Amino acid sequence: MTARAIFVGCAHRPEGNGDDDAAVRALADIGVATRWAVWDDPAEDVASADVVILRATWDYPLRRDEFLAWCASVPRLRNPFAAVRWNTDKSYLLDLERAGVPIVPTRLVHPGTVPEWPEGEFVLKPAVGAGSVGAARFAAGEHERAAEHLRSLHDRRRTALLQPYQAAVDSEGETALVFFGGQYSHAFTKGPMLTGAGLDGSGLYVAEKRGTTTPSVAWRALAEDTLDAAAAHLGLRRGDLLYARVDVVRTDAGTPALLELEVTEPSLGFGQADEAAALRFASAVRGVLA
Ligand SMILES: Nc1ncnc2c1ncn2[C@@H]1O[C@H](COP(=O)(O)OP(=O)(O)O)[C@@H](O)[C@H]1O
Ligand SMILES: [Mg+2]
Repeated sequence: MTARAIFVGCAHRPEGNGDDDAAVRALADIGVATRWAVWDDPAEDVASADVVILRATWDYPLRRDEFLAWCASVPRLRNPFAAVRWNTDKSYLLDLERAGVPIVPTRLVHPGTVPEWPEGEFVLKPAVGAGSVGAARFAAGEHERAAEHLRSLHDRRRTALLQPYQAAVDSEGETALVFFGGQYSHAFTKGPMLTGAGLDGSGLYVAEKRGTTTPSVAWRALAEDTLDAAAAHLGLRRGDLLYARVDVVRTDAGTPALLELEVTEPSLGFGQADEAAALRFASAVRGVLA
């Protein structure tokens, strides 16, 4: 068979950052011709593709409504629109917490409100955000600077997330566990991001320092539980999620906690995975096309 897939990028990264090249090759090997398209390019017609896969739409946080309207208009979108709508606002974390998933303690701070600040180090970040943009770390008692950052988020009518800073991120970063078609594929590590490093040339993300890893059992189990909870919340089967990335950090208690579930446009870490990871992804795409 020959099928046509579209990978979706954005104007500043129309073909992603290179990580997905392995997936394009693996798809070609099994009869799926893939090309890239920019989501808000009016000259694009993605409706004729057999599947349209969000991959590098990293400019959506400041234009979420527009992005979601576009997603809703796309036939055969992956992940499914309902998943993308839910997942592009980090308040989904509270849905997962209600479903019993241990998350990094999270409070929503809506525009017009000021929270009681936590005792130790903490993080403020936009509820609709990606690539660490707008995320900031504060020392215990740094309340004035935090209030200023909060105002800058609220001025743009953005709800903020307030979390205690998880100290283990400094020593071991976070672990990203990747699933294709609901099945575990591989994992990789990301170093600490809130180190004052500047944005990448695209202005859309802080570059990540990645490594390889084999996650321990508790991490694996948390990621599986997270996927089940997300699918149940969305009324989907796990297999309906072509790709998912579960970002997990170690809490002070030593147990794992969910920092982020990414089912919108996560980097999938093919560069940090075994060679067959791209084949597993391609096979999951064939599963969508079947
Ligand atoms: N509560 C936290 N404790 C420690 N580090 C954090 C915390 N929240 C965010 N970070 C750091 O900031 C980065 C970006 O935050 P994240 O929640 O992953 O949002 P996004 O990746 O969507 O911008 C993380 O990769 C992590 O390094
Ligand atoms: Mg992240």
